[in-house]
Amino acid sequence: MIKIAPSILSADFAHLADEVKRVTDAGADYIHIDVMDGTYVPNITLGSPVVKSLRKASKGVFDVHLMVEHPETQIEAFAEAGADIITFHIEAAKHSHRIVQQIKAAGCKAGIALNPGTSLAMIEELLQDLDMVLIMTVNPGFGGQKFIESQLEKIHMLRHTIQDMGFDCDIEVDGGINEETSRLVRQAGANVLVAGSAIYGAENIEEAIKKIRG
Ligand code: DX5
Ligand code: ZN
Repeated sequence: MIKIAPSILSADFAHLADEVKRVTDAGADYIHIDVMDGTYVPNITLGSPVVKSLRKASKGVFDVHLMVEHPETQIEAFAEAGADIITFHIEAAKHSHRIVQQIKAAGCKAGIALNPGTSLAMIEELLQDLDMVLIMTVNPGFGGQKFIESQLEKIHMLRHTIQDMGFDCDIEVDGGINEETSRLVRQAGANVLVAGSAIYGAENIEEAIKKIRG
C-alpha cells in the first residue's frame, strides 16, 4: 500500500489550514510537516505551536520531519501539539536509541531520516525499533530540488533488509518526487512518498496525487 504525504513546505503559509484541507480532500494519506531550525539546515519554517493550531483544523495523520539540531529537546512539544509520526535526522542525534524510545513514550510513531551522504549502516542497530526510515532523495533544506538517483540503491537494500529480518517498518522518501521519480522509488521499495512542489504546484492536485501513487 502506497501512502502519499504532501509536504506543506510548498503550501501557502498564509492559509495553512486551507492548504492542509485541500490535499486531504484530494486523497493525501499523511500531512508532511517540515520543521527547520536555521542551524541544522539554513531555513526556519515552523514550530510546535503551528502544529497545535493545525491539529484543531485537521484529523489527518501528521508526519513531522524534524530537521533540527538537538531533536531530543523537541519531541514532547510536537507530540503534545498533535504529531502522529516524528522523524529526526540521525546526523543530528547524539543518542539516537534513546530518542527513538522518547518518541514512542510520547505516544508517537518513530522515524529516522538519512541524508543522501549517510550510510544505512548508521541505523543497523535501530531498525528493529523503528516504525519508519526516511531516505532523503535531496539534501534537506529546500523544496523543489532535483532527485538524487544514487539513493535508489539505498532504498532497495533497505527494503531487502526489512523483508529478510521480518521488521514492520515503512520506507519513506522525500525530495524531488514527481510522477517519474515516484515510479523509480516505488520499484526500489519505498511505500511512503513525500512530495511538495509536485503536489502544491500542480493545477489539479487530485490528479497529481493519483499519478504519484501510480
Ligand atoms: C526538504 C524537505 C522536503 C521538501 C520536498 O528538505 O524535507 O519535504 O518539502 O519538496 P519537493 O517535493 O519539492 O522536493
Ligand atoms: Zn521533509
